Amino acid sequence: MSQNVVMIGLGYIGLPTAALIAKNQIHVHGVDINQHVVDTINKGQIHIVEPELDIAVSDAVKAGYLKADTKPIEAGAYLIVVPTPFKAKNEPDISYVEAATKAVLPLLKAGDLYIIESTSPVGTTEKMMELIYSERPELKDQLHIAYCPERVLPGNVMYELVNNDRVIGGVDDKSTDKAIEFYSRFVSGKLHRTNARTAEMCKLVENSSRDVQIAFANELSLICDKAGINVWELIELANKHPRVNILQPGCGVGGHCIAVDPYFIVAEYPMESKIIGTAREINNYKSFWCAEKIQNAKLEFELKNGRKPSVALMGLAFKPDIDDLRESPAKYIAQRVLQNNSNEDHYIVEPNVDEHKVFKLTDYKEAVEKADIIAFLVAHKQFKNLDLSGKTVLDFCGVIK
Ligand SMILES: NC(=O)c1ccc[n+]([C@@H]2O[C@H](COP(=O)([O-])OP(=O)(O)OC[C@H]3O[C@@H](n4cnc5c(N)ncnc54)[C@H](O)[C@@H]3O)[C@@H](O)[C@H]2O)c1
Repeated sequence: MSQNVVMIGLGYIGLPTAALIAKNQIHVHGVDINQHVVDTINKGQIHIVEPELDIAVSDAVKAGYLKADTKPIEAGAYLIVVPTPFKAKNEPDISYVEAATKAVLPLLKAGDLYIIESTSPVGTTEKMMELIYSERPELKDQLHIAYCPERVLPGNVMYELVNNDRVIGGVDDKSTDKAIEFYSRFVSGKLHRTNARTAEMCKLVENSSRDVQIAFANELSLICDKAGINVWELIELANKHPRVNILQPGCGVGGHCIAVDPYFIVAEYPMESKIIGTAREINNYKSFWCAEKIQNAKLEFELKNGRKPSVALMGLAFKPDIDDLRESPAKYIAQRVLQNNSNEDHYIVEPNVDEHKVFKLTDYKEAVEKADIIAFLVAHKQFKNLDLSGKTVLDFCGVIK
């Protein structure tokens, strides 16, 4: 196998992976359709926020092992790391994977390795194999085709890329062998062999498992609210049981993985994935419920005080202490609460973001001082130990517990 690697997609996963492979003195030709991304990387700079990535990319570009381009070239291995969002009706959209595959199709030759890393519905790798062999029948069974999902934690990617275990599934044993040999050149974690369909499902199941467990905690929070029980205390006490480990409730589930990947299972297996589908519904409903709670608190305040209250919405990110707002339930709640309401009565707070194109942001201390109602949507560290005396507080994420 030639030493060269083509990496299609240079985002949060593709770029760190490209830099890591390049660090191991393997030439990487990184491809992205975004010219700005390509130009930035070729200057030895990065377009995303990730600790240590700047140095890794700068070193790799300087050493001549990493180069970015808008078009692929011939190589020994092709990695597909493009987005896989969902379309209307929560169906997976694999058109980016298809486009990336079509881009490398004319370059493929016998013995090459083709790997999909993008989170994908079950059967995607086989579908791409059929696409490749229908266009290039002379290559039938001559390629090594595999799926290898990514499971890194943003913020710790450069460490986890090397040290996490990986699940690697080929369309046949020969492909699995080749893919394992490839990853063993730059991954120290264990490489677990399986087939492509199991590897695809494994990624989806990991995130669905998190979603279901969070849904259980969110469901408890709804029950406890009605029953007049403090859910945080309840979970702490229940977790004293040696074999119980309930997660914490919040204002929903967000981000581009846990809130998305379960739909890839539900869309394909709707009759069988009852718990997974219901968990998605519960976690989405929790955000709606939080927005309703805020509206009700506003009405109660107005009835009692004869004037409209001012409201601080604390946090927009999808989890504590990050600046990522993708699929964020807090953002959804803020949008709902602001609907048909004048902006003047609301203070939107997100201490990890300087500016937002839709929301006018207010400093968290100023918002808490000015607002009558304080709704905690994200448990950012800045929100702990604030003076809340005299305020109506809605704590959806356990800031004060
Ligand atoms: N970010 C994560 O934490 C994470 C973790 C595990 C898995 N994943 C999965 O990895 C995949 C990539 O995610 P990401 O976060 O890196 O996405 P991203 O949006 O950060 O990056 C994807 C890049 O691919 C480029 N692109 C799109 N179509 C292309 C094409 N046809 N040819 C070349 N470039 C193309 C885009 O311009 C973009 O720069 C997704 O399937 C995602 O679900 C992401």
